[in-house]
Amino acid sequence: MVIAKIAPSLLSSDFARLAEECERMLALGADYLHMDVMDGHFVPNLTLGAPIIKCLRPHTKGFLDCHLMVSHPEQWVDDFTKAGADLFCFHYEATKDPMALIDNIHAKGMKAGMAIKPKTPVDVVYEFAPKLDQVLVMTVEPGFGGQSFMSECMDKVVELRKRFPDLDIEVDGGLAPENIEVAAKAGANVIVAGSSIFKAQSPGDVISLFRKTIND
Ligand code: DX5
Ligand code: ZN
Repeated sequence: MVIAKIAPSLLSSDFARLAEECERMLALGADYLHMDVMDGHFVPNLTLGAPIIKCLRPHTKGFLDCHLMVSHPEQWVDDFTKAGADLFCFHYEATKDPMALIDNIHAKGMKAGMAIKPKTPVDVVYEFAPKLDQVLVMTVEPGFGGQSFMSECMDKVVELRKRFPDLDIEVDGGLAPENIEVAAKAGANVIVAGSSIFKAQSPGDVISLFRKTIND
């Protein structure tokens, strides 16, 4: 049985107060801190990289769930290890040899995640899943917060959950109180949410609702 892990996306936070925002989310019940790394090449946006993670690390004990939306993710494994990342999630579409990358991430002591974009078929994941700590099924085109949840991606979650009952399956993009039941029913258990948590009047209530819906 997998349990809910709620991962606020700090992309929607005030970057000038990143450490405080992380601590605020943890105090409200967050399990993970989802850090969106974008390179302006794999996706049409730029955010942050290992130097920011390194600065953040001494200020939080939170689990840093790093989502690398970058080309050639293999070249950043050492930097993210040294920066103190807990999980290094790369995109299947961005690398030639996912197996070698997974092995290297593990050898460096991080957990390994693999993400697929909405148009990438789920069966590419199957051969890697037994070695992965987490699979991320994107529910928007990666690159920006605040987009609409693509419910058609839930078929992929259903297939994955059927084959891998104990796998941590993360969904990311447009997750909100209106669609959390659909994600829960499909079998997702790690919920990333930026806008719906940070823009809420009561972010703690949104986190609790997500957790309850997944665990019930
Ligand atoms: C999008 C990022 C997401 C994003 C989610 O490419 O991977 O993590 O921050 O933001 P919302 O929840 O606003 O869609
Ligand atoms: Zn993300």
